[in-house]
Amino acid sequence: MTIPEKMRAKHTELCRQLHHHNHLYHSLNAPQISDAEYDQLLRRLLEIEKDLPELVNPSSPSQRVGSSPEPGFSQIAHSRPMLSLENAFNADDLREFDARLKRFLGSEESIEYLCEMKLDGVAVELVYQKGQLQHASTRGDGRVGEAITANARTIGAIPLQLQAGAPQLLEVRGEVYMELPAFRQLNEQRRDEGEKTFANPRNATAGSLRQLDPRITANRPLTISCYGLGEIDADQPPTGQLEMLRKLRDWGLRVNLETVALAGDIDGVLKQYQKLMTERDRLPFEIDGMVVKVNSFALQQELGEKSRTPRWAIACKFPPRQEETLLESVRFQVGRTGAITPVANLCPVSVSGVTVSSASLHNWDEIERLGVRIGDRVIVERAGDVIPDIVKVVIEKRNGSEQPIPEPTTCPACGSPVSRETGEVVPRCQGLTCPARLKESLKHFASRAAMDIEGLGDRFVEQLLQIELVHSVADLYRLNKEDFFRLERMGDVLAEKLLTAIDASRRRPLERLLFGLGIRHVGVHLAKILSRRFGNLEGLRQANRETLIETHEIGPQVADSLMAFFADEHNIEVLRQLEASGVQPESSAVPQGAGFAGKSFVFTGKLERFSRSEGAELVEQQGGRASGSVSKKTDYLIAGPGAGSKLAKAEQLGINILGEDDFLQLIKEISGED
Ligand code: IVH
Repeated sequence: MTIPEKMRAKHTELCRQLHHHNHLYHSLNAPQISDAEYDQLLRRLLEIEKDLPELVNPSSPSQRVGSSPEPGFSQIAHSRPMLSLENAFNADDLREFDARLKRFLGSEESIEYLCEMKLDGVAVELVYQKGQLQHASTRGDGRVGEAITANARTIGAIPLQLQAGAPQLLEVRGEVYMELPAFRQLNEQRRDEGEKTFANPRNATAGSLRQLDPRITANRPLTISCYGLGEIDADQPPTGQLEMLRKLRDWGLRVNLETVALAGDIDGVLKQYQKLMTERDRLPFEIDGMVVKVNSFALQQELGEKSRTPRWAIACKFPPRQEETLLESVRFQVGRTGAITPVANLCPVSVSGVTVSSASLHNWDEIERLGVRIGDRVIVERAGDVIPDIVKVVIEKRNGSEQPIPEPTTCPACGSPVSRETGEVVPRCQGLTCPARLKESLKHFASRAAMDIEGLGDRFVEQLLQIELVHSVADLYRLNKEDFFRLERMGDVLAEKLLTAIDASRRRPLERLLFGLGIRHVGVHLAKILSRRFGNLEGLRQANRETLIETHEIGPQVADSLMAFFADEHNIEVLRQLEASGVQPESSAVPQGAGFAGKSFVFTGKLERFSRSEGAELVEQQGGRASGSVSKKTDYLIAGPGAGSKLAKAEQLGINILGEDDFLQLIKEISGED
């Protein structure tokens, strides 16, 4: 169908107006029309697009409401690595940073710095070509991130189209975050709807960006502040950090220009650090420090970067926030291994904008160390995303009515007797049918690092257990739609989604199933090792203690735990049922002869081209293994500058010694890249 020119022009004009008002509102914080007027423009646009869907394009403001769910996130390589920052914690560290730069540059001259707030959110990269948003990605491992384009499009503060004069190509980095009032409102809404609340704005942001359904992201109050560049192709690229921020703002991006401060030298930086610390409480969003950047791009380039951090910038963290409150009572939580953890119920207190009403006391050693009692006034601390901690008791405020925290003798969930073994810091419930243990096991099984059954959160797990639809992880695979309809607030769409998610988990890799089964001492890493070594469940089950111990990184404690797991009839029955319900984990044994199969690597010295864990990852991808110490079994030692005793030992043993570049070359050859 040909589109009447008049309609096309009207559409273009409405898009222009909406982009313009969006820019005024989000980037410049200076709206010229009311929200209602904006909505009216948007409605007109939606009406036109409904009649003439051919007019819809990815940059249309209508796309902000969120398109249909994507099957998963694809990966996007950053054209320049997204680096991380080194940390400083106080004035001395900052002075040392300045001195280090001067030494590196061989000059005593004062360095000009730009001080920015360190926003506590999620780093993203936005790529604009010819002014249009092409894609958005998360930082990922710094080299490759997840494509979150559809979600980014729903964020009002991210322009879909830049202002006139923007560069041909612009890769811009920034922090997506949530302001505190909006965060509180979101949590209140979730509480009302019986959903789990987010622990802090950062988690809420990360959770919102990771939604597979952009319509959910569209309803989350996210915003962005831009602070860096990737590639840029501009006629007059900026020559310094402050100039860049100003240009970004001119091009239509949101930048917190009001809060940045230029400092002529490190003394100026320290003053700004003190100032920001006092202003922190008044900000409507969370910051966890100040980022100090060399302002001149020429100097930045001269200073260069290390493997994962630039030399020209540093993050100076703020000390964690502390508040005083009352420890009202203690409850006991039963974990999936039966471990009973004491948790303090606190009189709710706001710690840097987040209400804290409970804190883990960890174990009885910790209780003893703190000397804490019920009724004590305590100091709580919340550092970044960490669960609040009780750091101290205010002894002066005791009035004598405080009570010691008792150690339970029976399980608070199932009543079976509990015991604390020598050397253990918590008592454990031994009840195999304990509902609390079962609940935690199911949650663990469904969690992202294990079988990744999306949507099967606390709320549904609890109900499934309550109405006794599920007695073990295997029962999950027997559920049908009618079963789900028995749960509260369950509709057709959600039930369908859960069933699909459960079905998809039938084919997860073996390592995930192994981790999900919750065998003691078998975490993500060991699960990977075991699945590589044994290839399938039966192989692992048949392995005897000696074979297990011969496996690299598997010690007697893990071997015993595995033996005990497979000796338990109840466990074998669950495994049998899992198999009968079609749970067929993909085998992950490395084909013999592939890559580095059977080869052992050790990294030593100062590595400059990659980090130790990146190196290990490369080795593992090729079927090899990375170890911490040199022995006769080591095949290769990768040595960076400053290697010492490991290098000497490897030489003595006649082991192949490679430099970082040789190693990367070897990887290339083996993966057939060259
Ligand atoms: S610059 C090469 N500036 O902090 C420079 N980062 O620890 C890389 N962040 O991943 C980052 N506010 O998520 C920079 N003004 C700011 C920032 C900032 C927050 C985050 C960012 C980064 C992390 C580094």
